[in-house]
Amino acid sequence: MNRIRIAPGDAYPVPLPMTLIGAVVEGRANFLAAAWVTRVTLKPPMMLAALGSHHTNRGIEEHGEFSINVPDVALLAKTDYCGIVSGRTKDKSRLFEVFFGALAHAPLIADCPLVMACRLAEKVALPGDTLYIGEVVEAFAAEHALTEGRPDLRKIDPFVLSMPENRYFRIGEPVGRAWSAGKALSG
Ligand SMILES: Cc1cc2nc3c(=O)[nH]c(=O)nc-3n(C[C@H](O)[C@H](O)[C@H](O)COP(=O)(O)O)c2cc1C
Repeated sequence: MNRIRIAPGDAYPVPLPMTLIGAVVEGRANFLAAAWVTRVTLKPPMMLAALGSHHTNRGIEEHGEFSINVPDVALLAKTDYCGIVSGRTKDKSRLFEVFFGALAHAPLIADCPLVMACRLAEKVALPGDTLYIGEVVEAFAAEHALTEGRPDLRKIDPFVLSMPENRYFRIGEPVGRAWSAGKALSG
C-alpha cells in the first residue's frame, strides 16, 4: 500500500453520525447540527458531544440537560439548516414538533426515529471546544424503526457526514457480524 502524508486536520474517522443536539435557551427549544458525537460508556449509557461555542450551549450550561436526536434522510435539509443558522438570530423552535419526557429541558424531536434525553454528567474544556458528556436517562424510538424492540439501523435510515469532503451519505450494506467475523482467525 502506497502511503501519502496528509494534513492531520484532514484525518477524520469516517463517517461521522449526523445528530441534532437540543437544549432550552431562554425558554425556547433550540437545536444545532452536530456530527462530533459518540457513545462513550456502556453502563451507564453516556454520550459525548464536542461543541464549539454556540447558542445551544447556553441551555446545556444553564439546565444541565440536553437531547441528542438522530434524524433520518427525510430531515436532511432541516438538519443542515440547524447547522448553518444560529438561534442567536433565528428562532429554530418551530422547525420541528417537540415533546419532553422526564427531563424538562431536553427537547425531543417527534419526527426523529431515535431520540435521547441526557443529563449533563461531565464537561471537559478543550482549546476551542467543550466536550459535554451526558447520561442518557430516557430514549425513544419510532415504532417503525424497531426490530424486536430494538433500534434497527436500516429502518432508522440515518445519514452520516464525510469530512473533509463535507457531504452527507446514507448507510450502505452490512458487510459482516461484529464480535464474530474475527473468530475465524482465532485458530
Ligand atoms: C454538517 C454539520 C455538522 C456540524 N457539527 C458540529 C459539531 O459536531 N459540533 C459543533 O459544535 N458544531 C457543529 N456544527 C455547527 C453548528 O451546528 C452551527 O454552528 C449551528 O448554527 C449552531 O447553532 P446555535 O448557535 O443555534 O446553537 C455543524 C454544522 C454542520 C452543518
